[in-house]
Amino acid sequence: MMKLSLTLLVAVWLSAVSGNDNNKNNNNNNNNNNNNRKPNIIFVLADDYGFNDIGYHGSQIATPNLDKLASDGVKLENYYVQPICTPTRSQLMTGRYQIRTGLQHDVIHAEQPNGLPLDETTMVEKMKEAGYATHLVGKWHLGYYREEYLPWNRGFDSYFGYLNGMETYYAHKQNFSDGNWYLDLRDQNGPVHSEEGHYSGHLFTEKAIDVVQAHDPRKPLFLYLAYQSVHGPLQVPEKYERPYRHIQNQHRRIYAGMVAVLDEAVGNFTQALKDKGLWEDTILVFSTDNGGQVFTGGNNFPLRGWKHTLWEGGCHGIGFVSGGRLPVSGVVNRELIHVSDWFPTLVGLAQGSLNGTKPLDGVDQWDTISRGTPSKRTVLLHN
Ligand SMILES: *[C@@H]1O[C@H](CO)[C@@H](O)[C@H](O)[C@H]1NC(C)=O
Ligand SMILES: *[C@@H]1O[C@H](CO)[C@@H](O)[C@H](O)[C@H]1NC(C)=O
Ligand SMILES: *[C@@H]1O[C@H](CO)[C@@H](O)[C@H](O)[C@H]1NC(C)=O
Repeated sequence: MMKLSLTLLVAVWLSAVSGNDNNKNNNNNNNNNNNNRKPNIIFVLADDYGFNDIGYHGSQIATPNLDKLASDGVKLENYYVQPICTPTRSQLMTGRYQIRTGLQHDVIHAEQPNGLPLDETTMVEKMKEAGYATHLVGKWHLGYYREEYLPWNRGFDSYFGYLNGMETYYAHKQNFSDGNWYLDLRDQNGPVHSEEGHYSGHLFTEKAIDVVQAHDPRKPLFLYLAYQSVHGPLQVPEKYERPYRHIQNQHRRIYAGMVAVLDEAVGNFTQALKDKGLWEDTILVFSTDNGGQVFTGGNNFPLRGWKHTLWEGGCHGIGFVSGGRLPVSGVVNRELIHVSDWFPTLVGLAQGSLNGTKPLDGVDQWDTISRGTPSKRTVLLHN
């Protein structure tokens, strides 16, 4: 009984606080009834995106949409991820270091019978428990060798994307060690053969926009938009490369075009959220999964190292939080934040419960993000 009334009190207090927090939004629109609603939560993950490849880090590549979102929100300038794909993605999904999940050694390779252990609770399952519609568009890379490991059995209502770490951007195929090329593009119903020639930066954006347009706004939305961009192979429609023809290095030139697609993609996608009337009720997180790959055009200046190294260039990520439900804007946050922190932070935002999870390594960082209080984290495990 005691516990119950305390919970009730906390809930009332929380809605009072979130009411105050939304003054920013209330000045912008007349939508005063939304303050107690659970926010839509969008997580945009870019692949192999270099620290020096975003406009506001002084890049030679223009990223006007990402810059605008970041400057309207909170830039995370002391933000860490893992140096490679699978570990970062596993921490995002579980809030736990990969020394606990057996995913420490490397990425999951295409022919390995391996996956995010089934006794781990995913962030998505927690979102679903909290009443969210849950969708993944893009890359999974957390195992697929048995049905149970597939994204729609890990909490996602819908899935469209590829299951491995990399593939070609137009044909959506990967070269396996047997020398054959295999299609890796599917939804929860089976392989998708009809998108050959459709560049994934555009394809995934269109699919994410489809999710937004079909969404019933009475439910909160959780969308994990895990772009293929800007991982190798270096492929981009010529028109995106053209503005960078002054760049001598061919890898860098194509890569610049790939970043331009990513920026346009996020611009289109956020416009779709606005058109649907969801933006004012949305928290959007943008993150890289690891440092840029300098051998395929990425640049992490002034940081040393690159993807797959434990130097800063391998694991100091780009991160920012934006969206109409964010109570602050124009903030640069220099507190220590780690990719494992998103699990408790976003489940907290969703007013979800952390019951049933194994001990978390992540900590809830919403206070530091939304109010600038000191980070609750003083150390992190890189490796
Ligand atoms: C495909 O993979 C095989 C085996 O790893 C390799 O020998 C071959 O060169 C690759 N082909 C291409 C076109 O990359
Ligand atoms: C963004 O939208 C414009 C206008 O519809 C379209 O031409 C462009 O291809 C889209 N870009 C991406 C990356 O989705
Ligand atoms: C956690 O709490 C939620 C909401 O109170 C409840 O629906 C769910 O069954 C609980 N899960 C576990 C594993 O106890």
